[in-house]
Amino acid sequence: MIEPVRFAGDSLELLDQRLLPAEETWITCSDAASVVEAIKTMVVRGAPAIGVAAGAGVALAARAGSGGGPDAFRAAVAEAVDALVAARPTAVNLAWAARRVAAAVDTALENGALPGDAAAAAWAEALEIRDEDLAANKDIGRHGSMLVPDGARVLTHCNAGALATAGYGTALGVIRGAVEDGKKVTVIADETRPFLQGARLTAWELQQDGIPVVLITDSMAGALMARGEIDLVVVGADRIAANGDVANKIGTYSVAVLARRHGIPFYVAAPTSTLDRDTPDGRAIPIEERDASEVTTIGGVRIAPEGITVRNPAFDVTPAELVTAFVTEKGIHRPPYARTLARALGIVEDEAQAGDAVAAEGAASTPAPVASASSSTSANVDDGSEGAEDADIGDEQEMF
Ligand code: MRU
Repeated sequence: MIEPVRFAGDSLELLDQRLLPAEETWITCSDAASVVEAIKTMVVRGAPAIGVAAGAGVALAARAGSGGGPDAFRAAVAEAVDALVAARPTAVNLAWAARRVAAAVDTALENGALPGDAAAAAWAEALEIRDEDLAANKDIGRHGSMLVPDGARVLTHCNAGALATAGYGTALGVIRGAVEDGKKVTVIADETRPFLQGARLTAWELQQDGIPVVLITDSMAGALMARGEIDLVVVGADRIAANGDVANKIGTYSVAVLARRHGIPFYVAAPTSTLDRDTPDGRAIPIEERDASEVTTIGGVRIAPEGITVRNPAFDVTPAELVTAFVTEKGIHRPPYARTLARALGIVEDEAQAGDAVAAEGAASTPAPVASASSSTSANVDDGSEGAEDADIGDEQEMF
C-alpha cells in the first residue's frame, strides 16, 4: 500500500499525484516554500496528507532558521506557518498540523532548548503526526468495517484513500478494513470532476491493492442508486464543523442528497484531526475556489470556448442531517453530532448539552427519507435520521 509522504533524512519526498496514474514520480522538498508550492499545485492533496506535509514544512523552516537568534528563529517558524495555512484554506488538518509543530517548537524553547534542538523537536513532531494519522486510519478501517455488509457495493467520491493520507486512507480505509475482515466489496468510484481524483487516484489505488472498482462519471451516481446498484456511500472530509456539517470534495453534497432520496446510508470517515470545534457550522467553512483552467481543460486539452466565465469551488458542504454516521479512529458516531463529535474529542458535559440543543433544532428541519427505489440490502433502511444513540465504539451494534 502506497504512502504518499516520505520523511527522508532532512527532506520531504512527495509522490506527485498530478501525474498519476501515468507515472510515479517523487518530488523532494527541502524547504517550507517548496512544500507550500507542492500543496498549492496538488502534488500532495487530501486533508490528512497536506496536514502531514505542512507539519514537515514547518519543521523544515525551523531547521533553516535555527542558525539565527531566538527571535529570528521564531519569526521563521511563524512565517512558514502563515504561508502553509494560506496554501489551501478548506482542509482544517493543514492548519492543525502546522500549528501543532510550531507549538512543539515553542515548548522546546520554553524548556530551554537551543534553536537547533527545537528544530529537531519540530521534525519529531511532524513524524509523530504522520504516524498518528496512519494509526488513526487503520482504526477507522476497523470500526468502519462494521458498517459494510458482505457483498456491498460502495460508492465513494474523490480520493479519500492512502494517497490522501499518511497511508491506508479514511473512506478507502473503511473499504480496506472490510476487505481485511474477509468481506467481498465492490467500490463504485465517481470520477470527481474537475480534478478527477476518482478516475486517476481512487481507481489506481484500488487496482494496486486488487480491490474491485468500477469507475463511473459523477452524473451516473443517481441512476445507479435508482437501479438498486449502490448499497452505501462512504466519503472522506476536509473539515467537519462542530454541528456535523461536512466540507468535502465538490460533488459530495449531490451524492448525499441522492443517497437520502434513495434511502441509502451516507457515511463520512475522517480522523478526529478533521473535526473543527472552532467552526460552528458549514456556513463558516472557507471554500477554496481554484483556477478556471481545471474546468476548461482536461489533461491539458481545452474543452470549453475561450473567454467563458467559470466557477470552480473545490469543495461543498453537506449538512449534518444528511450524514448517517461518522467514523473516526474513536469509533462510530451517530446524531446528535454536536454532542457525539464533541465526545470523540474527549469533550463532555456542557458541550454535550449544547449539542442536544443544536440537534433538536436540526431534527425539526430534517426531511423524512424517501423510500428506496432499490430492492435489496437491509443496509438501505439504516438512514440514521432519527435521534440515534451516541454509539461510540464498544456500544456499536450494527444490524444489516
Ligand atoms: O482537493 P483535494 O484532492 O485535496 O480534496 C480531497 C478531498 O476532498 C478528500 O475527500 C478529503 O480530503 C478527505 S481525504 C482522506
